[in-house]
Amino acid sequence: MPADGDGGAPRYSRCGTNPTQEAVATKIASLEGMDAGLVLGSGMAAVAMTLLSLTRSGDHIVASGALYGATRRFLSHELPRRGVEVTFVEVDQPRQWRSCLRPSTRLLYLELPANPLLRVPDPRPVASLAREMGILLVADTTFASPVNFRGREHGVDVVVQSGSKYLGGHSDLVAGVVCGPEEVVEEVRGMLELYGPALDPHGAWLLDRGVRTLVPRVQWQNEGALSLARWLRERPEVERVYYPGLPDHPDHETATRLLDGYGGVVSIQLQDSKAAEAFCSALRLASVAPSLGGVETLVSQPRHASHRGLSSDGPTDHGISTGIVRISVGLEELEDVKRDFQRGLAAVRQLG
Ligand SMILES: Cc1ncc(COP(=O)(O)O)c(C=O)c1O
Repeated sequence: MPADGDGGAPRYSRCGTNPTQEAVATKIASLEGMDAGLVLGSGMAAVAMTLLSLTRSGDHIVASGALYGATRRFLSHELPRRGVEVTFVEVDQPRQWRSCLRPSTRLLYLELPANPLLRVPDPRPVASLAREMGILLVADTTFASPVNFRGREHGVDVVVQSGSKYLGGHSDLVAGVVCGPEEVVEEVRGMLELYGPALDPHGAWLLDRGVRTLVPRVQWQNEGALSLARWLRERPEVERVYYPGLPDHPDHETATRLLDGYGGVVSIQLQDSKAAEAFCSALRLASVAPSLGGVETLVSQPRHASHRGLSSDGPTDHGISTGIVRISVGLEELEDVKRDFQRGLAAVRQLG
């Protein structure tokens, strides 16, 4: 492990200190308005290394219940194995944040917008609570990207993101990012050095290539998703559209106040899992794939991806029913996407 000669962290790719890794991490941190950044080998590496570096056995975390599935599993199964307890707050019960606090609470954790119903919990009261307690608020803002939401402007101390989504933007990369105060990022770097989920230098270069077009891509996707959401709302086969840009979304007001764009992901509720299957199978332009944030339109069913535990039809305790299809709008001409979705909806109609 060669030293860089100036007494700083060694220049070694597993530590995220290769020049290409550092350049892109600094670029993303500056987009977030944060002091420092670090790139890692996946979004989950960013989530896991951040949470491991900020907690010790005996600590407690309060987290939003509306989370990416693997993050939720990490919090509810993996951290408790290491002596860290976690309490989840219902997304519709923001007062629970305070009542769940314990003397051992070390950090608060939330995600926005949260997959797949695009919930937007207001981070500002949670940030005030964190400040009052002298602890950190960590937020996963993967679905927003710094184009639509910069956590620091609303009191978030540490931002984690999957670079595999909007930041990378081409569905050809798995990466993660953590941005925050210098001392926190250095703690995470310490974990990265020990556990090793680094982003290889070529991946860092791909991430940098993606970030160069981040702003126009996300703006185009914001516009396309809003238009698509309004169009889908008028289709009789669609029981419900979940998009924070629509006035009937439960978090429309919060999203309008906090976000610069409502994002490129729209979820729809079809009658049941058969309808969701028929819709997805009939598509020719959009691909069925579990990711989001890339240049091509993707559709996925949460019951096959982030919420794999769902088996029966009807709503579950997380309000996520098996007829849900999540759409990640790409950069195609919107009329072509709508034509493709017409095909999907025709297949739903044929089910009778
Ligand atoms: C909100 C959110 N956070 C984290 C992740 C994990 O990212 P990765 O797949 O890059 O590990 C995902 C993946 O879909 C995600 O949607």
